[in-house]
Amino acid sequence: MSTTVWVLFFATLFLSCAEKVEQPHYQIGFLLETLKEERWQRDRDLFVTAARKRGAEVHVVACNHDDQLQLAQAEAMLAKGVDLLVVVPHNGEICATIVRKAHAQGVRVIAYDRLIRNCELDLYVSFDNVRVGELQAHYVAQRLPRGNIVLIGGAKTDNNALLFRKGQLNVLQPLIDSGYYRVIMDQWAADWQPAEAMKHMENALIRTTDIQAVIASNDGTAGGAIQALAQKGLAGRVLVTGQDAELAACRRIVAGTQSMTVYKPIHLLAEAAAEAAVQILNDEVVRRATEAVHNGLIDVPSILIEPIVVDKSNIHQTVIADGFHSEQAIFD
Ligand code: GAL
Repeated sequence: MSTTVWVLFFATLFLSCAEKVEQPHYQIGFLLETLKEERWQRDRDLFVTAARKRGAEVHVVACNHDDQLQLAQAEAMLAKGVDLLVVVPHNGEICATIVRKAHAQGVRVIAYDRLIRNCELDLYVSFDNVRVGELQAHYVAQRLPRGNIVLIGGAKTDNNALLFRKGQLNVLQPLIDSGYYRVIMDQWAADWQPAEAMKHMENALIRTTDIQAVIASNDGTAGGAIQALAQKGLAGRVLVTGQDAELAACRRIVAGTQSMTVYKPIHLLAEAAAEAAVQILNDEVVRRATEAVHNGLIDVPSILIEPIVVDKSNIHQTVIADGFHSEQAIFD
């Protein structure tokens, strides 16, 4: 081939690749519950980037814990003509309406991180949430042979909160039944609010200060519980679990007031969801959806990613090594 032919060949190749990245083929609506928590800001940024890389433009909205608003936001996205919805439901039951409305217009729906129940959901992409709860409870069980414990769950409207609790009880129930653990309080924090967790912990401490472990379902609720413990001079003297590897939690872990967190590499979730979204839009098989999770109506094809336990001993090899937080941000 002559030089001119080669130049023309590479120029065409370059232009066709460049076109793929620059021209979005698809419009995706990403509906979140909140953008006020650190983890969801990360989800937004990573998902938008991962989708854009694959030729999809993402429109992001958050409903701030408001079911009616989340519904209205979904309707607005559908009216705008998006090709697919990716939803972090505030309420896993109520959002079934979004799936039905989307399907009526031929738009498919992915549940992101949290399951949408009782509907013909197209795909569920999350972490193994029962495992998250088991990891939290195992951490405590390995360090506390017997004692008094407090359970602080998340939002009961979030299916994940129920799965975390299921996992926790898989480990804790036998210890409770055999009398090794006594449950001082078992509560749920509405909308995962740290202030709710703090209130529950204050109430538990009114009953007794003889508490050895707090199984808090995420870092926000752990933070609330630790504030209440600190008021009694108990922060750092009680085992406290968490989840999300939020910066504030990582700082508490190295300071010794929180015992552990569960690190969920969000980039894996965002990449998996973006890849699957484009496969669905291209009518391709989502090969990674090897699991099936029953949502009360159907077995939803699912991708479930493994969560990782983090404490002081492995924070460098996990959260810091992954660039999730810098060493400086955690230790300074
Ligand atoms: C859960 C999620 C957790 C945590 C919590 C509060 O559904 O899996 O990572 O962030 O919501 O937003």
